[in-house]
Amino acid sequence: MTYTDHIFTEYRCRLAELQESPNPFAKGIAWVGGDYVPVAEAKIPLLDQGFLHSDLTYDVPAIWNGRFFRLDDHLDRFEASLKKLRLKSPIPRQDIRDRLVEMAAKSGIRDAYVMMIVTRGLRYVRQYAPEDCENFCYLMVTPYLWVMNEEVQKTGGSAIIARTVRRIPPGAIDPTVKNLQWGDFTRGIFEARDRGAMYPILTDGDANLTEGSGFNVVLVKDGRLYTPRRGVLEGVTRKSVLAVADKLGIPWVIDDIPVQMAYDCDEIMFVTTAGGVMPITTLDDRPVGDGEVGPVSKAIWKGYWDAHSDPDYSFPINYY
Ligand SMILES: Cc1ncc(COP(=O)(O)O)c(C=O)c1O
Repeated sequence: MTYTDHIFTEYRCRLAELQESPNPFAKGIAWVGGDYVPVAEAKIPLLDQGFLHSDLTYDVPAIWNGRFFRLDDHLDRFEASLKKLRLKSPIPRQDIRDRLVEMAAKSGIRDAYVMMIVTRGLRYVRQYAPEDCENFCYLMVTPYLWVMNEEVQKTGGSAIIARTVRRIPPGAIDPTVKNLQWGDFTRGIFEARDRGAMYPILTDGDANLTEGSGFNVVLVKDGRLYTPRRGVLEGVTRKSVLAVADKLGIPWVIDDIPVQMAYDCDEIMFVTTAGGVMPITTLDDRPVGDGEVGPVSKAIWKGYWDAHSDPDYSFPINYY
């Protein structure tokens, strides 16, 4: 039995059940234009500025084993992002919350990737003041999505420090606003693939780490966690990881983290809602530490998944 089995065995049973479901929403449900539709049939207007200029923000909480995990933390970040972008959701926070719960119940999906998006709508800010734009809200609940699949989690993934691209600076795009301007990450993913690895870590161009394509980076060195301060999304998963570390008595530091520390550290984890705690055991073709998933990563991994059933962090959905 590997360290992941106690969580994944039950997940696989729930997934098998879901796959047999005759429910039209079992493969995903969307809320678009005021209607619920199966996600494969959901459409957005071509002239939506979210599509044409990536003028939007979004957030992604997850549901695990029938319980919403840290939904209010995601809604808090979503509201802060809306404010920074001068967007206003056409439906209030409580409605988004209630609707997402209802969508999960309707779909029967017990392990879900959940998305809330607010776009500028059909008017372009070059022609209209933001307060004169009617913003759109789209919601979606789909089966859980793994940035690192469960097989890879057992032995750890491979990563590179990207050389051909850096993270866009915070003075250009505010990384604390969850955004879909993924040009830098996409280039990083291409480079990782070209170099035979799975994931890129991007630097800030000044020899410090930032984050990777959809995840925060956490290093372990001499029993302490280190994670970058600047140029990153303030991840909810990272917050959970640091809470687990507190419980386990593991000290942590949020600061500028030099690239060199990634080569000298004992363990590396990538952390995100869509995948949880993802151990990295190869960096730039070299083993991280002894090349195995390390004891701190395993303990954090377990604490993170255990937190999903903790009522302090999650609440149950009443499925029909
Ligand atoms: C760029 C980026 N950084 C970090 C994260 C991790 O954030 P969270 O843990 O809140 O999912 C994400 C999540 O998608 C992301 O897109």
